[in-house]
Amino acid sequence: MSDRRAHWDHAYTVKSDTAVSWYQEVPERSLALIRQAGGGSVIDIGGGASRLVDRLLAESYADLAVLDISDVALRRSKERLGALADKVAWIVADITRWQPARQWNVWHDRAVFHFLTEVDAQDAYIAALKAGTRPGSHIVISTFALTGPEKCSGLPVQRYSADTLAARLGADFELIDEAGETHPTPFGTTQAFTYAAFRRSRSAL
Ligand SMILES: C[S@@+](CC[C@H](N)C(=O)[O-])C[C@H]1O[C@@H](n2cnc3c(N)ncnc32)[C@H](O)[C@@H]1O
Repeated sequence: MSDRRAHWDHAYTVKSDTAVSWYQEVPERSLALIRQAGGGSVIDIGGGASRLVDRLLAESYADLAVLDISDVALRRSKERLGALADKVAWIVADITRWQPARQWNVWHDRAVFHFLTEVDAQDAYIAALKAGTRPGSHIVISTFALTGPEKCSGLPVQRYSADTLAARLGADFELIDEAGETHPTPFGTTQAFTYAAFRRSRSAL
Protein backbone atom coordinates (compact mmCIF):
# COMPACT_ATOMS: atom_id res chain seq x y z
CA MET A 1 0.00 0.00 0.00
CA SER A 2 1.35 3.47 -0.87
CA ASP A 3 2.20 5.92 1.91
CA ARG A 4 -0.49 8.27 0.63
CA ARG A 5 -3.17 5.62 0.67
CA ALA A 6 -2.12 4.51 4.17
CA HIS A 7 -2.23 8.14 5.35
CA TRP A 8 -5.80 8.64 4.14
CA ASP A 9 -7.09 5.25 5.26
CA HIS A 10 -5.70 6.09 8.71
CA ALA A 11 -7.27 9.58 8.68
CA TYR A 12 -10.71 8.08 8.01
CA THR A 13 -10.16 5.28 10.54
CA VAL A 14 -9.18 7.38 13.55
CA LYS A 15 -11.91 10.02 13.14
CA SER A 16 -15.54 9.79 12.19
CA ASP A 17 -16.25 11.38 8.82
CA THR A 18 -18.15 14.22 10.55
CA ALA A 19 -15.13 15.04 12.76
CA VAL A 20 -12.53 15.62 10.01
CA SER A 21 -11.58 19.27 9.41
CA TRP A 22 -13.02 19.31 5.88
CA TYR A 23 -16.48 17.99 6.84
CA GLN A 24 -19.48 19.84 5.42
CA GLU A 25 -23.09 18.88 6.11
CA VAL A 26 -24.23 20.57 2.89
CA PRO A 27 -21.57 21.40 0.26
CA GLU A 28 -23.51 24.47 -0.93
CA ARG A 29 -20.76 26.15 -2.93
CA SER A 30 -19.89 22.98 -4.82
CA LEU A 31 -23.54 22.29 -5.57
CA ALA A 32 -24.14 25.81 -6.88
CA LEU A 33 -21.16 25.60 -9.24
CA ILE A 34 -22.04 22.07 -10.38
CA ARG A 35 -25.62 23.16 -11.15
CA GLN A 36 -24.25 25.82 -13.53
CA ALA A 37 -23.13 23.00 -15.83
CA GLY A 38 -26.78 22.20 -16.50
CA GLY A 39 -26.77 18.51 -15.58
CA GLY A 40 -25.21 15.39 -17.01
CA SER A 41 -22.56 13.11 -15.61
CA VAL A 42 -20.48 14.12 -12.58
CA ILE A 43 -17.28 12.71 -11.09
CA ASP A 44 -16.16 13.78 -7.63
CA ILE A 45 -12.37 13.48 -7.45
CA GLY A 46 -11.17 12.71 -3.92
CA GLY A 47 -14.79 12.65 -2.83
CA GLY A 48 -13.92 10.61 0.25
CA ALA A 49 -16.88 10.47 2.63
CA SER A 50 -18.32 13.79 1.38
CA ARG A 51 -22.10 14.30 1.40
CA LEU A 52 -21.91 15.81 -2.10
CA VAL A 53 -22.93 12.52 -3.70
CA ASP A 54 -25.99 12.27 -1.41
CA ARG A 55 -27.13 15.72 -2.52
CA LEU A 56 -26.54 14.99 -6.20
CA LEU A 57 -28.55 11.77 -5.92
CA ALA A 58 -31.34 13.77 -4.23
CA GLU A 59 -31.25 16.18 -7.20
CA SER A 60 -31.73 13.20 -9.57
CA TYR A 61 -28.25 13.15 -11.09
CA ALA A 62 -28.20 9.68 -12.60
CA ASP A 63 -24.60 9.27 -13.80
CA LEU A 64 -22.33 9.73 -10.79
CA ALA A 65 -18.84 8.56 -9.92
CA VAL A 66 -16.75 9.12 -6.80
CA LEU A 67 -12.98 8.49 -6.91
CA ASP A 68 -10.72 8.39 -3.89
CA ILE A 69 -7.36 6.96 -2.91
CA SER A 70 -8.93 5.68 0.33
CA ASP A 71 -11.12 2.61 0.23
CA VAL A 72 -12.00 3.28 3.89
CA ALA A 73 -13.47 6.68 2.95
CA LEU A 74 -15.51 5.29 0.08
CA ARG A 75 -16.84 2.48 2.28
CA ARG A 76 -18.09 5.13 4.72
CA SER A 77 -20.11 6.74 1.94
CA LYS A 78 -21.42 3.43 0.64
CA GLU A 79 -22.56 2.39 4.13
CA ARG A 80 -24.26 5.76 4.66
CA LEU A 81 -26.09 5.57 1.32
CA GLY A 82 -27.23 1.95 1.66
CA ALA A 83 -29.05 0.75 -1.46
CA LEU A 84 -28.56 4.14 -3.14
CA ALA A 85 -24.83 3.38 -3.32
CA ASP A 86 -25.57 1.03 -6.21
CA LYS A 87 -26.43 4.07 -8.34
CA VAL A 88 -22.86 5.39 -8.07
CA ALA A 89 -19.59 4.20 -9.65
CA TRP A 90 -16.96 3.96 -6.88
CA ILE A 91 -13.35 4.15 -7.98
CA VAL A 92 -10.42 3.50 -5.64
CA ALA A 93 -7.44 5.17 -7.32
CA ASP A 94 -4.63 7.66 -6.89
CA ILE A 95 -5.58 10.53 -9.19
CA THR A 96 -1.93 10.98 -10.17
CA ARG A 97 -1.80 7.39 -11.49
CA TRP A 98 -5.29 7.02 -12.91
CA GLN A 99 -6.23 6.80 -16.57
CA PRO A 100 -9.93 7.56 -17.08
CA ALA A 101 -11.72 5.26 -19.51
CA ARG A 102 -14.48 7.81 -20.25
CA GLN A 103 -15.35 11.51 -19.99
CA TRP A 104 -17.68 13.35 -17.62
CA ASN A 105 -19.70 16.54 -18.05
CA VAL A 106 -18.59 17.77 -14.63
CA TRP A 107 -15.30 17.15 -12.84
CA HIS A 108 -15.48 18.23 -9.18
CA ASP A 109 -12.60 18.34 -6.71
CA ARG A 110 -12.76 19.88 -3.26
CA ALA A 111 -9.46 19.90 -1.42
CA VAL A 112 -7.52 17.28 -3.42
CA PHE A 113 -5.46 19.10 -6.08
CA HIS A 114 -3.98 21.31 -3.37
CA PHE A 115 -2.16 18.29 -1.88
CA LEU A 116 -0.13 17.97 -5.07
CA THR A 117 2.82 20.17 -4.25
CA GLU A 118 5.17 18.62 -6.84
CA VAL A 119 5.01 19.70 -10.47
CA ASP A 120 5.11 16.09 -11.75
CA ALA A 121 2.09 15.13 -9.62
CA GLN A 122 0.21 18.26 -10.75
CA ASP A 123 1.01 17.43 -14.38
CA ALA A 124 -0.26 13.86 -13.88
CA TYR A 125 -3.50 15.22 -12.37
CA ILE A 126 -3.97 17.61 -15.30
CA ALA A 127 -3.36 14.75 -17.75
CA ALA A 128 -6.13 12.75 -16.01
CA LEU A 129 -8.36 15.86 -16.06
CA LYS A 130 -7.85 16.21 -19.81
CA ALA A 131 -8.55 12.52 -20.41
CA GLY A 132 -11.65 12.57 -18.18
CA THR A 133 -13.30 15.65 -19.73
CA ARG A 134 -14.17 16.90 -23.20
CA PRO A 135 -14.60 20.38 -24.73
CA GLY A 136 -17.65 21.89 -22.99
CA SER A 137 -17.14 19.93 -19.75
CA HIS A 138 -17.24 21.95 -16.54
CA ILE A 139 -14.52 21.66 -13.93
CA VAL A 140 -15.06 22.79 -10.34
CA ILE A 141 -11.92 22.83 -8.20
CA SER A 142 -11.68 24.04 -4.64
CA THR A 143 -8.40 24.52 -2.77
CA PHE A 144 -7.17 26.39 0.25
CA ALA A 145 -7.04 30.10 -0.63
CA LEU A 146 -3.84 32.16 -0.60
CA THR A 147 -4.75 33.16 2.97
CA GLY A 148 -5.74 29.60 3.95
CA PRO A 149 -3.81 27.08 6.05
CA GLU A 150 -0.44 25.76 4.87
CA LYS A 151 -1.34 22.19 5.84
CA CYS A 152 -4.37 19.92 5.77
CA SER A 153 -4.55 16.54 7.50
CA GLY A 154 -0.90 17.10 8.49
CA LEU A 155 0.22 17.32 4.84
CA PRO A 156 1.61 20.45 3.13
CA VAL A 157 -0.66 22.04 0.54
CA GLN A 158 -0.26 24.43 -2.38
CA ARG A 159 -2.61 27.39 -1.93
CA TYR A 160 -4.30 29.10 -4.88
CA SER A 161 -6.44 32.00 -6.02
CA ALA A 162 -8.80 31.35 -8.93
CA ASP A 163 -6.29 33.10 -11.20
CA THR A 164 -3.25 31.10 -10.09
CA LEU A 165 -5.27 27.92 -10.41
CA ALA A 166 -6.32 28.94 -13.92
CA ALA A 167 -2.69 29.62 -14.80
CA ARG A 168 -1.68 26.17 -13.51
CA LEU A 169 -4.41 24.33 -15.44
CA GLY A 170 -3.49 26.09 -18.67
CA ALA A 171 -5.20 27.54 -21.72
CA ASP A 172 -7.54 24.59 -22.32
CA PHE A 173 -9.60 25.63 -19.28
CA GLU A 174 -11.52 28.94 -19.30
CA LEU A 175 -12.26 30.40 -15.86
CA ILE A 176 -16.03 31.08 -15.79
CA ASP A 177 -16.78 31.63 -12.11
CA GLU A 178 -15.08 31.90 -8.75
CA ALA A 179 -16.00 32.28 -5.12
CA GLY A 180 -14.35 32.34 -1.74
CA GLU A 181 -15.57 30.44 1.29
CA THR A 182 -14.77 30.61 4.97
CA HIS A 183 -15.16 27.00 6.02
CA PRO A 184 -16.06 26.39 9.67
CA THR A 185 -14.27 23.24 10.87
CA PRO A 186 -16.00 20.87 13.31
CA PHE A 187 -13.57 22.05 16.01
CA GLY A 188 -14.43 25.75 15.85
CA THR A 189 -11.71 27.20 13.59
CA THR A 190 -12.14 28.57 10.07
CA GLN A 191 -10.29 27.91 6.81
CA ALA A 192 -10.25 30.13 3.71
CA PHE A 193 -11.09 28.21 0.52
CA THR A 194 -11.03 29.25 -3.15
CA TYR A 195 -13.63 27.79 -5.52
CA ALA A 196 -13.07 28.09 -9.26
CA ALA A 197 -15.25 26.88 -12.13
CA PHE A 198 -13.82 26.30 -15.59
CA ARG A 199 -15.15 25.31 -18.98
CA ARG A 200 -12.95 23.05 -21.06
CA SER A 201 -12.50 25.20 -24.10
CA ARG A 202 -10.80 22.94 -26.56
CA SER A 203 -9.45 19.51 -27.05
CA ALA A 204 -6.03 18.83 -25.68
CA LEU A 205 -5.33 16.49 -28.58
C1 LIG B 1 -9.40 17.03 2.49
S1 LIG B 1 -10.17 15.58 1.97
C2 LIG B 1 -11.57 16.21 1.05
C3 LIG B 1 -12.64 15.15 0.85
C4 LIG B 1 -13.86 15.63 0.07
N1 LIG B 1 -13.50 16.14 -1.24
C5 LIG B 1 -14.64 16.65 0.85
O1 LIG B 1 -14.70 17.80 0.44
O2 LIG B 1 -15.20 16.26 1.89
C6 LIG B 1 -9.09 15.03 0.68
C7 LIG B 1 -9.54 13.74 0.01
O3 LIG B 1 -8.71 13.46 -1.09
C8 LIG B 1 -8.35 12.11 -1.08
N2 LIG B 1 -7.04 12.04 -1.77
C9 LIG B 1 -5.87 12.56 -1.33
N3 LIG B 1 -4.91 12.34 -2.23
C10 LIG B 1 -5.49 11.69 -3.27
C11 LIG B 1 -5.01 11.19 -4.50
N4 LIG B 1 -3.71 11.31 -4.86
N5 LIG B 1 -5.88 10.56 -5.33
C12 LIG B 1 -7.17 10.41 -4.98
N6 LIG B 1 -7.68 10.87 -3.82
C13 LIG B 1 -6.85 11.50 -2.97
C14 LIG B 1 -8.33 11.73 0.39
O4 LIG B 1 -8.47 10.35 0.63
C15 LIG B 1 -9.50 12.54 0.93
O5 LIG B 1 -10.71 11.84 0.86
